[in-house]
Amino acid sequence: MAALSSPSLPAVAAAHLSAWLAPLGVSASAFDDSLALLNPLWTVHRLHARVVHRRAETASATTFELQAGPAFHGLLPGHHVMVGVDINGTRHRRAYSPRAAPGSPGRFAITVQRQPAGLVSNHLHDHVQVGHHLEVGLPAGTFTLPVTTPPRVLLIGGGSGITPLMAMLQHLHEHAPATRVTLIYFARSRAERIFAAQLEGLARSWPAFRYVPVDSHANTAPAGSGQAGSAPVLDDALLARTAPDWARTPTWCCGPTPLMATARALWQQAGQAGLLRLEAFAVTRPDGDPHARHAVSLRRAAHTARFDAAGHHTLLEAGEQAGLTLKHGCRQGICHECTCRLHRGTVRDLQHGTLLAGEGQTIRLCVSSALTDLELESLG
Ligand SMILES: Cc1cc2nc3c(=O)[nH]c(=O)nc-3n(C[C@H](O)[C@H](O)[C@H](O)COP(=O)(O)OP(=O)(O)OC[C@H]3O[C@@H](n4cnc5c(N)ncnc54)[C@H](O)[C@@H]3O)c2cc1C
Ligand code: FES
Repeated sequence: MAALSSPSLPAVAAAHLSAWLAPLGVSASAFDDSLALLNPLWTVHRLHARVVHRRAETASATTFELQAGPAFHGLLPGHHVMVGVDINGTRHRRAYSPRAAPGSPGRFAITVQRQPAGLVSNHLHDHVQVGHHLEVGLPAGTFTLPVTTPPRVLLIGGGSGITPLMAMLQHLHEHAPATRVTLIYFARSRAERIFAAQLEGLARSWPAFRYVPVDSHANTAPAGSGQAGSAPVLDDALLARTAPDWARTPTWCCGPTPLMATARALWQQAGQAGLLRLEAFAVTRPDGDPHARHAVSLRRAAHTARFDAAGHHTLLEAGEQAGLTLKHGCRQGICHECTCRLHRGTVRDLQHGTLLAGEGQTIRLCVSSALTDLELESLG
């Protein structure tokens, strides 16, 4: 996979021109709006990409091939990009894990799995066609391969969690084919396994690649729920059989929460937690008391809004349920648009499972739940 390391010269020149015009009263968005009239891909502040191709991967997963403009750069395997769409007049953004098209600057693909009642994933499936433009952010994230490729790599995916791993696989196949790569990929069946044919083709033609598809929905059922039945799971035995050196191999794992929790526990038990990188697609739901009512005061520019937050809602959901329009972007703890300062009280950070107590530190409303009454100040 080709990494697009820097913006092209025309994009750099346009960014300089925008900076030069700013003191004359031409804002970044006005500059972009003017460029977008000529070509939406020429914007330099808020970037766009054109859908050039779409194809079904499974009954519920679709790949969108996108062509971004010259300002799009820096894509590494495992990165995510924020994709923005307008739904009923409101811009919604979600993260997707792109794969770059080798030799085609600014060309990349995202594969989107429909989520039950999911707003953006269903909108992309049902309404976005070839020729449409999507807002895209610059690539970001830390779930990437190291600069120096290790001699052995283990990838563990579940469901749509294959997407960043596929970007890594394509990169390793193209740039470091001697790397001994094992992919263990959980899905309910071959029909639901995204990229099934492509992965089987790679396994046939790439001697250093070991492909281990596992037909199992155990990874989607919470541990101890009994829903998994006798389906195979990620455990010592599976790892010993398919990747005997697993505890000494740098490993990337992306999939449903139970799969990643199992991986975390296995690597911790082996004393090798540092070799395991995890990427969560969904933030852990708050599991606080639904009957608790914590009084939240949120200072915004000129006034203070007040609402009650139950323990099983994020602060963003609680504010919205009280009828407030709160500044937000991704709802996934990524874009920081919902950041507030916590002056009093305690919240749970749902991304890291930690408690944060009010000492003027920053929190994100979309990945925090209230544990006490709170005093917040919006920084958005
Ligand atoms: C770094 C990163 C990379 C990602 N890469 C990909 C990728 O390559 N491909 C991909 O398909 N996805 C990817 N995702 C997930 C993606 O960003 C979206 O979260 C996903 O598409 C669902 O968005 P949505 O708007 O359809 O669902 P949302 O409307 O945000 O809802 C998500 C799910 O949560 C449920 N839900 C929503 N609100 C509540 C609530 N209040 N209580 C209980 N349940 C609720 C919905 O029913 C739905 O199933 C990635 C996420 C991250 C963080
Ligand atoms: S909305 Fe993006 S971090 Fe909260």
